[in-house]
Amino acid sequence: MEMKKAVLRAINLHKVYRMGKGVRVHALRGASIEVYEGDFVAIIGPSGSGKTTLLNILGLLDVPDSGEVFIDGIPVVGLDDDELSEIRLRKIGFVFQHYNLIPILTALENVELPMILAGVPPKKRVERARELLRMVGIPEMEEHKPNEMSGGQQQRVAIARALANEPSIVLADEPTGNLDTKSSEEIVNLMLRLNRERNITFVVVTHDMDVAKKADRVLRIRDGKLYEVKEL
Ligand SMILES: Nc1ncnc2c1ncn2[C@@H]1O[C@H](COP(=O)(O)OP(=O)(O)O)[C@@H](O)[C@H]1O
Ligand SMILES: [Mg+2]
Repeated sequence: MEMKKAVLRAINLHKVYRMGKGVRVHALRGASIEVYEGDFVAIIGPSGSGKTTLLNILGLLDVPDSGEVFIDGIPVVGLDDDELSEIRLRKIGFVFQHYNLIPILTALENVELPMILAGVPPKKRVERARELLRMVGIPEMEEHKPNEMSGGQQQRVAIARALANEPSIVLADEPTGNLDTKSSEEIVNLMLRLNRERNITFVVVTHDMDVAKKADRVLRIRDGKLYEVKEL
């Protein structure tokens, strides 16, 4: 039997936000998840249920109060900022609801950026950025800046950028949340195609049921914990 590799494991995550006047929000209360190479996982839950908190912790953008996170088997809780940045840069791709592209850079330059940070030489990274923009279906947008592109096109650039350093996993937080129905569907189908054809592992946080329906696995976040959903 073939053993699937766990690219991401998180065990018993807790996160409390402390506000003024002693007010505390217990966003995660023992959330656990395992993601295997080639998975396409959707995480669903209403607004305020802790989806972004979870994804930020899984993506090493935030730290849990307790619990463990392993990326490719490496325990990451307790690593220093430089070590975390390095793992983020090489192993994790991010896609956000608002694309988060750099406005003064062209599409090509936005995709090059993570490769610049990773020390990829200029010729090689331009070649790869071009290939990635072809892969996401917008080769003609190379020289365009974000404000010269539609939302769907900007999200394609963001997906290309997420793939730049060949990450072990791509984490997407409401990637269709800002798009119309048609563009949403195109973006989901693009991510699915990348998953099926290139075995890219995705974890997609969404409250869009059309996205969740297409995922191989669906987890629901409820009371700060994750539950595997058998039927939608
Ligand atoms: N930086 C923060 N400071 C205080 N409370 C926060 C912060 N971020 C999120 N929260 C609270 O934590 C809970 C979960 O939020 P979030 O993870 O953003 O949920 P979702 O992404 O599912 O909408 C909410 O009650 C939210 O108000
Ligand atoms: Mg959110």
